[in-house]
Amino acid sequence: MAKVVTVMNMKGGVGKTTVTMHLAGVLGRWHAYGSKPTKVLAIDYDPQFNLSQALLPAKDYFALEKQNKTVLSVLVEDESDLDPFKIQVPGNLKPPSVGSLSTPIFNGSKKGGGLDLIASTLDLMYVALGEANLNVKPIEERFTKFIEEARSLYDIILIDCHPAGSIFTQTSLRHSDHVVIPVVPQRYSVRGIGLMMEFIGAKSVGKQPATPHILFNNVPRIGVSSEEATIRADKKFAAHCMTNTLKKFKAFTEPEAGKNFVWSSGKAYSTEALNNLVRVSRELFTRIGG
Ligand SMILES: Nc1ncnc2c1ncn2[C@@H]1O[C@H](COP(=O)(O)OP(=O)(O)O)[C@@H](O)[C@H]1O
Ligand SMILES: [Mg+2]
Repeated sequence: MAKVVTVMNMKGGVGKTTVTMHLAGVLGRWHAYGSKPTKVLAIDYDPQFNLSQALLPAKDYFALEKQNKTVLSVLVEDESDLDPFKIQVPGNLKPPSVGSLSTPIFNGSKKGGGLDLIASTLDLMYVALGEANLNVKPIEERFTKFIEEARSLYDIILIDCHPAGSIFTQTSLRHSDHVVIPVVPQRYSVRGIGLMMEFIGAKSVGKQPATPHILFNNVPRIGVSSEEATIRADKKFAAHCMTNTLKKFKAFTEPEAGKNFVWSSGKAYSTEALNNLVRVSRELFTRIGG
């Protein structure tokens, strides 16, 4: 049974997509780092589809989108006549199978592992915009069934969620065991964390709340900023702060169209970034009991 991990922060540009992509990539290749083969599903749940763009060549992405092999098909049945102001309520409560929507990004070893992706689409915006007059129940039910099937097929499911508190963030949180909160330590980042903690609690009514893991991202390679130190010293957050941080490395900005990942790069400077990433992944893997 897979652990479901949502990567979320109300703030944009803090590295949600970067963190999702790199954790998913390393955990999907976990056997290469002396750990057990782990089968990973990454779900791009952001209409900006940055994760899909990073992991897939453009022509593959457009082919998928044309066939409606995106996360939008999980939520609604028929996308052909989507109208932002008159959203179609899905009549059919059964989502497509996970296998019919997922795309392999790379295979694992003979013993298993590997990474698959559920791509996103800008058309997801229609759902977000029509949300006010939307019956969310059928959408929730379809998402629930989809995640249930995915849990039986994978070891870890990582969801790249968009920033705002929309239906995507809510459904994603309700089905998550863990939330990774990437935080770039700067002046107002503490407010974002507080908001996230409240949001996680509020959206988990009637069930065990997802466990938060604060991951300081894009931090200098040496030293600890005063902002990071302040957050770590805060009683509300201390237990949730990951010990390892993801440092600022140019290598983490380079993936595009399924290429230039630190784990496949021959460039010398990528090695340090990869080592950093593996350390962060190992800590998270332990924290989620993977
Ligand atoms: N650890 C890092 N090192 C260097 N650049 C980073 C790092 N994390 C994020 N970035 C860069 O910061 C920008 C925002 O990251 P992104 O993952 O798109 O954020 P979000 O998904 O939260 O909007 C991108 O240009 C990304 O390449
Ligand atoms: Mg993003």
